[in-house]
Formats: sequence, C-alpha cells, structure tokens
Amino acid sequence: MKELKVLAVVVALTLITYWGVEPFAHSQMHPHVDAADFKFKDLKEDVADVTSLKGNATAGEALVTANCTACHSIKTKGYPEIMDHASSAAAYGVTPPDLGSAGKLYDASYLAAFIKNPAKASQVEHKFVDGRTHPMPGYDWMQPQEIADMVAYLQSIAPEEMSNKEVFTDACQRCHSIKYADMQKGTMAAFTPDDNIKAYMGKLPPDLSQHIKSRGHEYLETFINKPQKHLEGTAMPRVGLNEESQAQVITYLEEVGDSSKKQREELGPKFLIYLVIFAIFAILWKKSKWRDVH
Ligand code: HEC
Ligand code: HEC
Repeated sequence: MKELKVLAVVVALTLITYWGVEPFAHSQMHPHVDAADFKFKDLKEDVADVTSLKGNATAGEALVTANCTACHSIKTKGYPEIMDHASSAAAYGVTPPDLGSAGKLYDASYLAAFIKNPAKASQVEHKFVDGRTHPMPGYDWMQPQEIADMVAYLQSIAPEEMSNKEVFTDACQRCHSIKYADMQKGTMAAFTPDDNIKAYMGKLPPDLSQHIKSRGHEYLETFINKPQKHLEGTAMPRVGLNEESQAQVITYLEEVGDSSKKQREELGPKFLIYLVIFAIFAILWKKSKWRDVH
C-alpha cells in the first residue's frame, strides 16, 4: 500500500511539472509570432493604384529594358550582366539578382511595391538614413500603369517550373552561400564577395547549409517572409517570396542540410516493429525461465 501512495505522489508531481512548466518554457523559448503574411497587407495601400490596373507586357518590356537591365541581367532574354559579380558588388554593395524569374518568385503586389520603393517594401528603411540610399532607385515617379506593365512583363517571361535550387539561387544566393550543396566545386558560394556584402549588410550573412537544423521549419517559415519579426532591426531584407517559392526554398534547405530526414522517418516504424517482436520473445523467454521456479 505504501508503495502505491509513493507512486501516486511521484506521478502527480511529474504531471504537474510537465503540464505546468513545459508549456511555459516552450512559450519562453519559442515566443508566439504571427503566421507568414503572403498577402503583404502592410503594402496594400502603397500599391492599390497599381494592383487595380491590368498590365501590358509588351509596353512593360520596353520599360524594363530602359530602366532595369543596366543593373540586372535577364539571361533568358539575352540581357547579360553588364558587369561580373565582383564589379557589380563593388558598385552596388550586392550583386543585383537576375530578373528572369522575378515574376514567378515574388508576389505581384510585393513586386510593384518593391519597384516603387525598395527599402520600404523589403522593410530595411532603418538602414538607409543619414544620406544613405538603397542601391536600387525607387520608381515611384512612374505612372501606376507603367509599373503594372513592368510587373506584367516580368510575369510573362518567368518560367512555369523552377527547381528548388534555382529558386534559392535567384532569391537568396546574392547574399548567402550554402556550401554543403556543392563542397567540391564551390558553385554554391554567395555571388557577392564577402568584403562587399559585409560592408553593405554590416555583417556577413551566414552560410545556410545547416539552418534547417539550427532554426527549424517553423522559424524559417515566418523568418523569410518577415525577418524583422524575429530579429528586430536586422539587415536582412524581406525577400517577398510568394507561398510556393518560399516552400521551395525551405525544401531546398532541407535537401542540403538534412538529406537523411526521409531515411530517418522511414526507419522509425521499422524500429517500432522490431521492438514489438523483441518484446514478444522477451516475454516468452521470461515465462519459460520462470515456469520451473513456480
Ligand atoms: C542601379 C541599379 C539597379 C537598377 C537600375 C534596378 N535595380 Fe533592382 N536591384 C538592385 C540591387 C543592388 C538589388 C539588390 C538589393 C538588396 O538585395 O539589398 C536589386 C533587387 C531587385 C529585386 C529583388 C527584390 C527582393 O525582394 O529581393 C527585384 C525584383 C528588382 N531589383 C527589380 C528591379 C526592376 C524591375 C528594375 C527596373 C524598374 C530594377 N530592379 C532596377 C539594383 C538595381
Ligand atoms: C540582401 C542580402 C540578403 C538576402 C537576399 C537574403 N538574406 Fe538572409 N540574411 C542576410 C543577413 C545580413 C543576415 C544576418 C541577419 C542578422 O544576423 O541580423 C541573414 C540571415 C539569415 C538567416 C539566419 C536568421 C537567424 O535567425 O540567424 C536565415 C535563415 C536567412 N537569412 C535565410 C535567407 C533566405 C532563405 C533567403 C532567400 C529567400 C535570404 N536569407 C536572402 C542577408 C540576406
């Protein structure tokens, strides 16, 4: 009887500790953050004049070639980089991304907002004060129709399908390397040389090879969509990916940083089956040993 009472006390204390302390610790270590906002509500008013219009891709092509290809390549359309990565990084602080996929990667209203005011749309206005300006000029002096046309053009030339790696390359690789993806050849190093990106960002953006493990899915899902939510005042811009592209980037981080996940998950049920069979044999063995004793 005494043992039962002790057991009851131990069980009660364990449950109180578990239910009382664990959720509290969890809420402290993983503070609640709002889910990712793929509608970019904070920019809605800024681009209402553009998003209400229907863009004309043909007119957009002329505008993009006149305004954007001095800095950006669009390789699929034969607009090569004017400068190599190193020179463009020296000129702008960071290598401007290729725009061939922009119409697929970015949410359309985000894209319009970014063209109008890059620092505001990517939530890094705090970095561009005291006479410092974003390396990409804002085009808010243009007619809303012209911006709608450029967005329509970028959408019209974007590929329908992209691999997870291609999404990473166009959206993240100007700043981040992911070296584990290609250790031998070093092709997954960041495009912008370390010294330039350090000067532009104030710090070296981390190599992302292991971030799926060190940060986890949930964190990445909300971080990429709005870095300021997790690291207030951070230099990393919001990249404005739509839901599909963001999912592809996270899957890519997983393919590189946690390639054994699938194997591991497959092993789980097999191991449990093994344990059950083992337990049956153990019980049978015990019974056979004790049979003679009783
Ligand atoms: C003077 C050079 C320059 C010009 C001209 C320019 N850009 Fe950029 N653009 C940049 C740089 C530099 C970046 C990267 C900025 C960063 O990552 O902080 C960039 C980034 C971008 C991005 C990525 C947005 C994101 O959230 O990651 C898009 C899309 C873009 N530009 C579109 C355009 C379009 C469309 C035009 C023409 C209307 C244009 N740019 C004109 C330099 C330029
Ligand atoms: C214009 C440069 C730039 C681009 C583009 C960029 N990042 Fe970053 N990123 C940074 C910088 C700088 C930091 C370091 C932030 C800090 O510590 O304040 C960072 C940090 C991070 C971190 C670490 C966050 C943490 O908790 O420490 C992750 C994860 C990340 N970036 C993912 C991405 C992904 C995924 C993309 C592409 C969708 C991307 N970044 C695009 C500059 C960039």
